[in-house]
Amino acid sequence: MQRRQIYIYYSFGVLLLIFVKNVVCTIQLKEVFSWSTLDYAYANKYERDYAIATRQFIPENNLPVGIEIWKDKVFVTVPRWREGIPSTLNYIPLQQIEATKTPPLTPYPNWNANTLGNCESSLRTVYRIKADSCDRLWVLDTGTLGIGNTTQNSCPYALNVFDLKTNERIRRYQLRPEDINPNTFIANIAVDLGRNCEDTFAYMSDELGYGLIVYSWQDNISWRFSHGYFMPDPLAGDFNIGGLNFQWSEEGIFGLSLSPLRSNFERILYFSPLASYRAFGVSTNVLRNSSRTGDSYHDFFVLPKRGPNSHITAQVMSEDGIQLFNLIDRNAIGCWNSATVYGATNIGIVDKDDIGLIFPSDIKIDNHRNVWIMSDRMSNFLLAGLDHGDINFRIFVAPLNDLIRNSICEPKTHQNLNYFQTNLFDFNNRYVII
Ligand SMILES: *[C@@H]1O[C@H](CO)[C@@H](O)[C@H](O)[C@H]1NC(C)=O
Ligand SMILES: *[C@@H]1O[C@H](CO)[C@@H](O)[C@H](O)[C@H]1NC(C)=O
Ligand SMILES: *[C@@H]1O[C@H](CO)[C@@H](O)[C@H](O)[C@H]1NC(C)=O
Repeated sequence: MQRRQIYIYYSFGVLLLIFVKNVVCTIQLKEVFSWSTLDYAYANKYERDYAIATRQFIPENNLPVGIEIWKDKVFVTVPRWREGIPSTLNYIPLQQIEATKTPPLTPYPNWNANTLGNCESSLRTVYRIKADSCDRLWVLDTGTLGIGNTTQNSCPYALNVFDLKTNERIRRYQLRPEDINPNTFIANIAVDLGRNCEDTFAYMSDELGYGLIVYSWQDNISWRFSHGYFMPDPLAGDFNIGGLNFQWSEEGIFGLSLSPLRSNFERILYFSPLASYRAFGVSTNVLRNSSRTGDSYHDFFVLPKRGPNSHITAQVMSEDGIQLFNLIDRNAIGCWNSATVYGATNIGIVDKDDIGLIFPSDIKIDNHRNVWIMSDRMSNFLLAGLDHGDINFRIFVAPLNDLIRNSICEPKTHQNLNYFQTNLFDFNNRYVII
């Protein structure tokens, strides 16, 4: 719940200004797990000590980035940006939620599948992952070790799909050489379920190679779209997060979210470049058709700007069309109800915390309409280092309906609206009424 402080100023006894300032901390999101440094579920103390002694596990190099929830598992991915990452795809059994706030990560589906070995049998680096309602887990392995100028492409990009009921990998598909280019960096995936489990497509955003790769589960083939809307905005590459100022000016298409099904099994794929204050969209009817890669320029559309300080990396949309996204410059989670026009006036903040939500890195909605958020201080990790005496990584959860209650994103079934919500939301987190 947001606390509101109301300031009233009189001038000349005529003009009345009321500023309603939202003073927020994470009082909606419940912190369920938190860590100063990650740890893994080794079979015993000897194995853990051995891994540390041989530098297969260097605790302070491990940064969690992606999450996903399926039944009683919370998945957590850890990219191999530095040495000493023992496993990139992991989970926490949800039963541990009562037992400990700092559970160790368990490799998924097992240690072997995560141990550096041959490219086909083990995962190198996994970012964001997606579980679908056919009980499959979609995992794109970038095949890389390192980050930025230390990147080595030690294995090809490959999409791995696991059967969550048997924990077996049921598919591995290497992206074609034509799907990628020398700058390719893919850290997000969206999964589009159509008429049935066979009729499924995955969309993968190429942030630094500026493309959108489509994979058809049924036909086991992929293709690549290019578009000017995948590019960064040269005026939006400056960031201030966690006390640091830095420039990420080359970062293009990044966060992806899919609308609910519309008629004819069509959805809208929303996407946002990272160095940008805009969102764009395209129909999945276009993306699903491989012959449209060369002739779909006008099918992509642009939405109005969100306003300043609104860089986002991760986004998700609920089955009733509520989009949530991380506002990384504001240590906050934003929302948009897609029944309203996109833009600054219809974007709300559902929670904000200047300590706990420094760099929210992923956001997901589970089958019970709970929202799950990971925050990881990523920019501090990359640019300055973390203080391992402090809590750095957190997982939060809250029911979606509670998060958006009394926000501008709450569905307006009953127009019994709070007076202030009908007025201008000025993106400095204030409602201004004159
Ligand atoms: C790699 O980038 C970092 C900063 O991002 C810089 O400090 C370092 O000198 C670069 N190394 C090389 C070999 O270019
Ligand atoms: C999908 O295609 C790949 C080649 O890229 C092949 O290795 C794999 O066996 C195919 N899988 C299925 C289920 O057809
Ligand atoms: C795919 O696009 C081509 C070219 O625009 C069009 O002729 C064809 O009908 C489309 N296929 C489907 C299934 O919509």
